[in-house]
Amino acid sequence: MEKLVSLSKRRGYVFQSSEIYGGLNGCWDFGPLGVELLRNIKEQWWRSMTYREDVEGLDASILMHPRVWEASGHVANFTDPMVDCRECKARFRADQVEDAPCGNPGFKGRKAAKCQSEGKFTEARQFNLMFKTFVGPAEDSSAVVYLRPETAQGIYVNFLNVQSASRQKLPFGIAQIGKAFRNEINTKNFLFRTREFEQMEMQYFVKPGTDEEQFEYWKEQRLQWFIRLGMHPDRLRFQELERDQLPHYAKRAVDIEYEFPFGWGEIEGLHNRTDYDLSRHEEYSGKAMRFYDEQTKERILPYIIETSAGATRQLMAFLADAYQEEDAPTASGKTETRIVLKLHPSLAPVKAAVFPLVNRDGMPEIARKLEAAIRPQMRVFYDDSGAVGRRYRRQDEAGTPYCFTVDSQTLEDSTVTVRDRDTMQQERISMDSSVRYLLDKTGGSRRGDL
Ligand code: GAP
Repeated sequence: MEKLVSLSKRRGYVFQSSEIYGGLNGCWDFGPLGVELLRNIKEQWWRSMTYREDVEGLDASILMHPRVWEASGHVANFTDPMVDCRECKARFRADQVEDAPCGNPGFKGRKAAKCQSEGKFTEARQFNLMFKTFVGPAEDSSAVVYLRPETAQGIYVNFLNVQSASRQKLPFGIAQIGKAFRNEINTKNFLFRTREFEQMEMQYFVKPGTDEEQFEYWKEQRLQWFIRLGMHPDRLRFQELERDQLPHYAKRAVDIEYEFPFGWGEIEGLHNRTDYDLSRHEEYSGKAMRFYDEQTKERILPYIIETSAGATRQLMAFLADAYQEEDAPTASGKTETRIVLKLHPSLAPVKAAVFPLVNRDGMPEIARKLEAAIRPQMRVFYDDSGAVGRRYRRQDEAGTPYCFTVDSQTLEDSTVTVRDRDTMQQERISMDSSVRYLLDKTGGSRRGDL
């Protein structure tokens, strides 16, 4: 993990939020490469969800009527048990004391569990994870609103708006990408548990009785999405949640877990939310939330199958999965370790780099022309500084799948070398075919499709 955090900073993937002020715990900023990777992940998800007939898109506001969160059960139930150490004043999630280190920097290596066993901890009390703020100038209880802890509720309250506007029939889904906020007691593991993060959620509305079958379908769809995007299948698994682990809204929940360097962790949750959310919104709003079936003349309260993905947590999983250290030959015939991010080409932030072998003999001018031909189609990087081997290494670390080099032969026959990031093999192709070559290899222009 330390290597990943360090590479993320060095190459401009992820920076600590407000770093010059010492950082803000649980918040991170995405740098030039990070923001591209995140956009590409979201784009792939969006395409896989909404480029189908039965799923519509939505972008609901982050701030919602406070009754939404009473109806959803979050005001009453979205809590974690919290304990404090009376001695060092550190605060812990009561169910995660086991792995936590003691909060006193003077006791390096000591486990919080030891302090607990010595009776230093307070009793556990429930702490609500929703951030509160106020609408308008008055900071009183009537003005309280919450930063949404999940994007899903924006979909539920719009269920009939979307259905009637798009004339969808059951089963159909609504997909949304957006920020979510949780005032986590303990943040940890880089982007894994943060206080501000991004979710990609799809809620699939189905007839009661078909929910189990739909659940199985979406479970498989979502697993295959990671595999298509190049994740190692052996580092992915399903984890069925036990009854006592289920969120308050779910009858069944399966996590898709990824094997991070620190162990297995959830990257996506699939939930059978039954008619819990819609019936609660009916009750709290007094408005019917039913689908009218023209054929059977029935008013149906659908069940909901939810696929809930953390975009920022998945970004870390894609980075961890792509990170490799390999032995590679140097120009002088020695061996060195190369760090390479083997990101799927459709996720790679920069698709190609263009180098002139040397900065003379007209090579930079030709290389600039090639770069200009590629740029309207996708992100490309021009680099003319240092030995070409160093330039390749920098692109390996950034995850750039293809590097084009203009050399002396280019001057004679207008061909260039193209080097594959993963195999380090080079081939010569005509410069004119470079854009086509890249489009084929990276799966289309800009963010590409699979
Ligand atoms: N709407 C259901 C829901 O939000 P969840 O299991 O609480 O379900 C779904 O969250 C996903 O959101 C998780 O699998 C994870 O990827 C991401 N996520 C949740 N809490 C997070 C946090 N504090 N930091 C980063 N990602 C988080």
